[in-house]
Amino acid sequence: QSEAARRASRFGPVPFGAIGATAASLLADGAARHDAKRRRKNAGPGARPGPAQQPAQQPASSGSGSDDDRDIPEGAPRAMPMEPRYRYGDPTLPVSRYRRQILYLVENHAVTIIVGETGSGKTTQLPQFVLEAGWAESGFAIAITQPRRVAAVSVAARVAEEMEVDLGTTVGYAVRFDNALQAGRTRIKYLTDGVLLREMMDDPLLTQYSVVVVDEAHERSLSTDMLLGLLKKVLRRRPDLRLVISSATLEAAQLRTFFDTATVAGRKQGSGPDRSSAILTVEGRTHPVQVHYLEAPCSDYVRAAVEAAVAIHEEEIPGDVLIFLTGQDEVTSAVRLLEEHARRQGGGGRGRGGGGPLRMMPLPLYAGLPGPQQQLVFKPAPRGFRKVVAATNVAETSLTLEGVVYVVDCCFVKQRAYNPLTGLESLLVAPLSQASAAQRAGRAGRVRAGHCFRLCTEEAFASLPKVTVPEMQRSNLVGMVLQLKALGIDNVMKFEWLAPPPAEAMVRALEELHALGVLDEDARLTKDVGLALSALPLEPPLGAALLASRGLGCAEELLTIASLMSVQHVWAPAQGATRALDEAKARFAAAEGDAVTLLNVHRAWRASGRSAAWAHRNFLQPSSLFRADEAREQLLGLLRRHGLLPGGQPPPSADRDMDPVRRAMAAGLFMNAAVFERTEYNPLAPESDPGKNVYRLVRYTAQKTAPLKLRIHPSSVLFRSTPPCVVFHTVQQADSGWFEMQGVTSVDPSWLPELAPHMYHRPQPRGVGGG
Ligand code: CDP
Ligand code: MG
Repeated sequence: QSEAARRASRFGPVPFGAIGATAASLLADGAARHDAKRRRKNAGPGARPGPAQQPAQQPASSGSGSDDDRDIPEGAPRAMPMEPRYRYGDPTLPVSRYRRQILYLVENHAVTIIVGETGSGKTTQLPQFVLEAGWAESGFAIAITQPRRVAAVSVAARVAEEMEVDLGTTVGYAVRFDNALQAGRTRIKYLTDGVLLREMMDDPLLTQYSVVVVDEAHERSLSTDMLLGLLKKVLRRRPDLRLVISSATLEAAQLRTFFDTATVAGRKQGSGPDRSSAILTVEGRTHPVQVHYLEAPCSDYVRAAVEAAVAIHEEEIPGDVLIFLTGQDEVTSAVRLLEEHARRQGGGGRGRGGGGPLRMMPLPLYAGLPGPQQQLVFKPAPRGFRKVVAATNVAETSLTLEGVVYVVDCCFVKQRAYNPLTGLESLLVAPLSQASAAQRAGRAGRVRAGHCFRLCTEEAFASLPKVTVPEMQRSNLVGMVLQLKALGIDNVMKFEWLAPPPAEAMVRALEELHALGVLDEDARLTKDVGLALSALPLEPPLGAALLASRGLGCAEELLTIASLMSVQHVWAPAQGATRALDEAKARFAAAEGDAVTLLNVHRAWRASGRSAAWAHRNFLQPSSLFRADEAREQLLGLLRRHGLLPGGQPPPSADRDMDPVRRAMAAGLFMNAAVFERTEYNPLAPESDPGKNVYRLVRYTAQKTAPLKLRIHPSSVLFRSTPPCVVFHTVQQADSGWFEMQGVTSVDPSWLPELAPHMYHRPQPRGVGGG
């Protein structure tokens, strides 16, 4: 251990074995070899649309990865690519050494599972391999799914660069409300798992794809889990389709069992790929990472993280620092503290080695970061600088930063949490799992041996959960059930899940959909609301608000509100200028609440001629505003295409009277209706503190113990007022246990039984379980 590392801060020296190479040891690629041998006789050409004729053998150029033949499955057909000099990709990455095996497995197995550490090249290289092997000929495309939109966009850009094509031509991406594609021309398509699910609505068998790569399967996002279940069904109907699943961890065995039980009964041997799945483990090339823990717990991890980073910068030899925090706010405040430090230093850090003084270059990285700033993070630090990147979870496995040698991990993560008793989904800063912590630590070992500083004691770390609970187990399932129903899966309870969601959450979702008018008494999709809602890429409550607005004469307004609420990050991070941000908000604030405030923002943005300078002056993010415009166009197009807008044109905006808008919001968000109960006055609080306003959910909740403590989030324009009844878009759970409502609209309580009779009038419907 370097002595400097020990000095880095209050960390005790705790030796920790090498991270990495774990995958290799647990899942020997003997598995793949064994399979290959067993299936040798079936190794004929794959069914349509299998690889086209391989290019003639060419002498392999040095360094193209051809030197590694040793792991080729015994008996792999020699007609397989004999290492043609391939044009695409980066031959130095670990997966490139397995190119031939991967292509062999993809050709001969319906499902190939590839396990490899983060950074081994799975996301960027796999699609290029299969493309070059001819899988995207005759009009087919290759899909690669990502759980995060920021990853889909940035990786697509990277791959386009590697292939020397313009993004949006051969290589493209599609994320909600944004894409860069050319139908019929794009061969490699990066998309979010959610967008691929949407595509299934129009094309349930995904006929435009020859290969679907489900990437980052270890993340177990709700959409990924759902997709895997659906793809299992699709494979039964499409023997020509190949599924590649890539994962950074070892749930591979579970995945394999899941797909192997899908073996098609009675399929004739030789008439398609082997129906069993294959696993290939790609050895990483990470260096050992030494982990350090705090000697005593810290109370403020943002500050502690900044201190640790500064200590590393001052004492350690060059190498970038990556700090893991939980959200955009924390990231921006850490960057601000780091910048302050860098200024105080007068630009002269004392990083040893490398000659002159090293200067610190603090950078943020989070999902809502505008594109150009994101590019900056991926660029190597200029000479004489050390990058210190403060990032959210996006840097855990989705995005790889080169050059990181030091990781500082707060050991927390912001996640969804769902309580089926209250039916409330919230965002919550929760303790990290040990598996995720290992991933984060691994980020330090890319270039050379690294260090990871965990901002907790070793004892505290030992008590963290071993693995992260899959998202499906902790989410509101309304959107998912709606999509399954729309795909014709009537009995959602019997759907084949990788891991079934909790039954109570499922029942809640069915109840909620029933209340929204999406499902009828027999739990079938209703012809009007159900079908319409499933066609809109919106969360069901926002979609329902939009649909309701048509009858209320305010579709024009709701299109804007639903778009802005969906794109998020409309306001710029305050970067310490919270007061200025509040003042900017006050300029648009409406007594009706946040939805109408967004409407005001959008009107002013249009009036400014969509000026980016105007947006910056008003603490608004132009990129989000542009994206919202895009979303709005798409939603309008969808409403028209599905004949959901009589006359094809939303009525002109209703001007002054905002009651219809509030009613529409209530019609969609009635599940989230809350009434004001009392003010908890705090005599010690400063004058400006409005104290705590206690709200209560209007609907029935099954939770008897500990009533929900709801209040309005400080970011809401209604924070300082106490409307008697509100509906809210989301809730965030604060440390104190309070659920803080965001996207709040003041409504009239008498509207609720009128707009949501199922929920607020009649007794609970019978028979909402399974179909
Ligand atoms: O998917 P996996 O984690 O296995 O690796 P990858 O994302 O394909 O990354 C492979 C390599 O490409 C890494 O060395 C990354 O640093 C690099 N890369 C990059 O430089 N810029 C990007 N936008 C994406 C990847
Ligand atoms: Mg990846």
